[in-house]
Amino acid sequence: MNLKLNAGYAAAELVKDGQVLGLGTGSTTHYFIEKVGQRVKEEELELFGIPTSYQSFLLAKKWNIPCTTLNEYSIDLAVDGADEVDPQKNLVKGGGAAHTLEKIVDYSAKELVIIADESKEVEKLGAFPVPVEVIKEATQPVISALTDMGAEPVIRMGVQKDGPVITDNGNFIIDAKFPTIDSPVDMEIELNTIPGVVENGIFTEMVDKVIFGTKNGLKEL
Ligand code: A5P
Repeated sequence: MNLKLNAGYAAAELVKDGQVLGLGTGSTTHYFIEKVGQRVKEEELELFGIPTSYQSFLLAKKWNIPCTTLNEYSIDLAVDGADEVDPQKNLVKGGGAAHTLEKIVDYSAKELVIIADESKEVEKLGAFPVPVEVIKEATQPVISALTDMGAEPVIRMGVQKDGPVITDNGNFIIDAKFPTIDSPVDMEIELNTIPGVVENGIFTEMVDKVIFGTKNGLKEL
């Protein structure tokens, strides 16, 4: 059973003709974009997509979903994935290094729906290290600041690239493992006050609905 596909396809059924969509990034939103693309073809829907990464832009293009930008249109519905989801619908995102544009797109949407398989549901955020996008020149000062905050920070390294991962924005990612995240709301704000931090992967108080794919069917929060 493909739990990510089930969640992604269910979210695609929420899409209405004429909407502007925020297109999240990752292996779960892959299925959302795929199903939206199929609906565009079969139902002749007129939609615009605003992608949150180059990867999502390429997928939208593959499925003939016309793309636009936040400078031209506002978003009716954004659908995105997550690395962790807590009971208050706070998130950790950025496992794919796309959280900066994801946050801009997701936070500006009239409605934000998160899709994930059931493994992403947690009681408390923090087992997944918080991705922090940094301007390269600020890497060591940000590492020091994160260490002072109690984290174990590591620079994310490329898999098929020597050296650090480079984001779509030309920056580095530092993954910061905190012993606990007691207040996601405070942590999200505090991380962004470190000079050189572009954006962090904690998303709070923005999600309208979560759709989990589970072995027993769909579950909504
Ligand atoms: C991209 O940087 C992330 O925020 C993804 O949305 C998140 O990692 C979820 O990805 P998957 O759907 O691949 O698990």
